[in-house]
Amino acid sequence: MTYRGPDGETTIDVPPGTRLMQAAIDGDVDGIIGECGGNAMCATCHVYVGASDVDVFPPMSADEDEMLTCTKAERRTTSRLSCQLPAPAHDITVELPEDQ
Ligand code: FES
Repeated sequence: MTYRGPDGETTIDVPPGTRLMQAAIDGDVDGIIGECGGNAMCATCHVYVGASDVDVFPPMSADEDEMLTCTKAERRTTSRLSCQLPAPAHDITVELPEDQ
């Protein structure tokens, strides 16, 4: 799993099913805060998924959609809350916003 931020990339091993926010926190990835502990209530775990990876993840809930209106960085069509994203079985890259 690769997290690509403004200051570079960090690649870590993430067991499938692990939430991408928790994996980033456990792996000391800069750029993910996860203030609410993964409850879709803070929007400090905002990531941009690759356009070709959108269907890899479960559909967005209404709560996640609402929280994504509160992100510090711009919301894009590929914006997700990484606490709501279970890691897939294959490697992917997510982009981190400038700020959380
Ligand atoms: Fe708070 Fe994801 S950790 S919304």
